[in-house]
Amino acid sequence: MRQSSLVVIANRLPLDDSAAPDGACEWRRSPGGLASALHAILEQTPATWVGWAGGVGPAPALPDLGSLRLRPVSLTEEELRGYYEGFANSTLWPLYHDAVQQPTFDRGWWETYRAVNQRFAEAAAEVAEPGAAVWVQDYHLQLVPAMLRELRPDLLIGFFLHVPFPPPELYMQLPRRVELLRGMLGADLVGFQREQAAHNVAQLAKKLLEVEATDHAIIVDGRTVRTGAFPVSIDMAEMRALATRPDVVTQARQLRHDLGQPKRVLLSVDRLDWTKGIEHRLTAYRELLRDGFVKVRDTVMVQVAVPSRERVESYRGLRDRIEGEVGRINGEFGRVGEPAIHYLNQPFARAELAALYQTADVMVVTPLRDGMNLVAKEFVAAREDGTGALVLSEFAGAAAELPQAFLVNPHDVDGLKDTLLRAMEADSADLTARMTAMRQHLAGHDIMAWARAYLTALDHTGSLAERLPPLSGRR
Ligand code: ADP
Ligand code: F6P
Repeated sequence: MRQSSLVVIANRLPLDDSAAPDGACEWRRSPGGLASALHAILEQTPATWVGWAGGVGPAPALPDLGSLRLRPVSLTEEELRGYYEGFANSTLWPLYHDAVQQPTFDRGWWETYRAVNQRFAEAAAEVAEPGAAVWVQDYHLQLVPAMLRELRPDLLIGFFLHVPFPPPELYMQLPRRVELLRGMLGADLVGFQREQAAHNVAQLAKKLLEVEATDHAIIVDGRTVRTGAFPVSIDMAEMRALATRPDVVTQARQLRHDLGQPKRVLLSVDRLDWTKGIEHRLTAYRELLRDGFVKVRDTVMVQVAVPSRERVESYRGLRDRIEGEVGRINGEFGRVGEPAIHYLNQPFARAELAALYQTADVMVVTPLRDGMNLVAKEFVAAREDGTGALVLSEFAGAAAELPQAFLVNPHDVDGLKDTLLRAMEADSADLTARMTAMRQHLAGHDIMAWARAYLTALDHTGSLAERLPPLSGRR
C-alpha cells in the first residue's frame, strides 16, 4: 500500500464509478462547496483522497488522478441510508443549519454512522505515512479525528467543518452530543468558517466535557486542541480564466440573446436544498411581479437548482413545492415565449456556470443559513469588468467577507423585495465600487490562501512544511 504525507478524508471522492463508463477516469466536479474547494487544491498534488465513490457495493478500483491518489471507501445500501441520508443529512445537516428543517433523531442511524466513520478512519490510517498530516472534512466524519488518533497517535490530525456549527442551545438537542464533540476534538486543529463556531464549541466543551476551553484552545485528556476560523474560498484564477475565455464570453452573449435581451437578468444558482432559501426568494419575486415592480418583458429570473440528496423525503418535497411555485408564477405572469422564470434542474460544466455568472445583472444568493456559499464568491470572480450586483444573505458565511454586497435577511420577504429592487436600480458607479472592493478581497483570499493558512496552522511547529504539497508546491 503506497502512503502519502498528506491525506484528505471527505465523504465524497471527486468522481464516482458511474462517471467512467469507458474505463477512463475524469474529475467529476460534484456540485457542492467542499468538492469545489478541495478540487482546486488537490488537482496535481501528491496526496491521497479517501472518500466514497458514489453508489453501493464493493469499492471500485480507481486509478490515480495525475499525482493524486484515490482511496475509495465502500458503502452498502443500508449504510447509505443510515450514515449519509440518515444521520449526516437528516440529523446533523438540519440541526447545524439553525434547524430550518426539523432534524430527525432516529436511534437506528447512530450505529451505522459510527461504523462508517470507523471504516474511513481505518482507510486513512492505512495510507498515511509515519507522522503524516491527515485532514478530515465535514460533518459526515465528525467521529473520525478521535478514531484516527486511537489508531495512529503519530499523525498530525486536522478537522474542518464546512457547514455552520450551531449555537449551544441547538446542539444540546443532539442525542449523541458528547460522542460527537469528543470525536471532533480528537484533532490537533479544528477549523470553522466563522469565529462564532469556535466560540460555540468552547462553550459546549466547558459544559458537556467540563474541560478548560477558550475560543482558541480546548484542553482534552491533557492535549491542547487548537480551534479557529479559516473561511473557505474559491479558485479565483480558474474562474477569472474561464470568464475571459472567448468561447465563454460568446456563450454569455448568446444566453442573453436567448433570454430575449431583457433589461435585467436575475440569477440564482443553488443545490436544491431547503437551506438555500429558494422558496422565500420565489415568494418575493412573485410579489414583485404581482405588484408591478417587475415586468416580465424587462426582467428575467434564472433559477438553477442542481439536484441533491434526491432520495431524502424532505428534498423530494422541496423539489415538488419549488416546481409547483415556478409553474404557478410562469402560468400567471409569463407570456408565450417569455416565461417569468427560467428554471433549470440540472448540473452545469464550469464554463457554462461562468457564462451564466457573466450574463446576470443581479446575482441573488439568499440562503437561510450557509457555512460559506461559494456561488457568491464565484460570481464576483467572474465579473472581470467590475459590473453586476450581488444580493447576499446575512446568514451566509460569505457575508462577513463581502460587506459591499446588498446584504439581506432572507426570512424577511418585504426586506428581500426592497433589497432586490435596490440592487436592480443601483447606479453603475455604486456597483463598480462595490464589485471592485469584493474582487480585491477575494484576490488575497482565494482557495490556495485558505489551504496554506489551515495547513500552516495545523503544522505550527513546521515539522511537516517540506512534506505538505500546498505549502511547498505550486502557485
Ligand atoms: P454547497 O456547498 O451547500 O452546495 P456552495 O455555494 O458553497 O454550496 O457550493 C456550491 C458549489 O457547487 C459551487 O462551487 C458551484 O459552482 C457548484 N454548483 C452549483 N450549482 C451547480 C450546477 N448546477 N452545476 C454544477 N455545479 C454547480
Ligand atoms: O458544503 C457542504 C456539503 O455538505 C459538502 O460536504 C458537500 O460536498 C456538499 O455540501 C454537497 O452535498 P452532497 O455531498 O450531499 O451532495
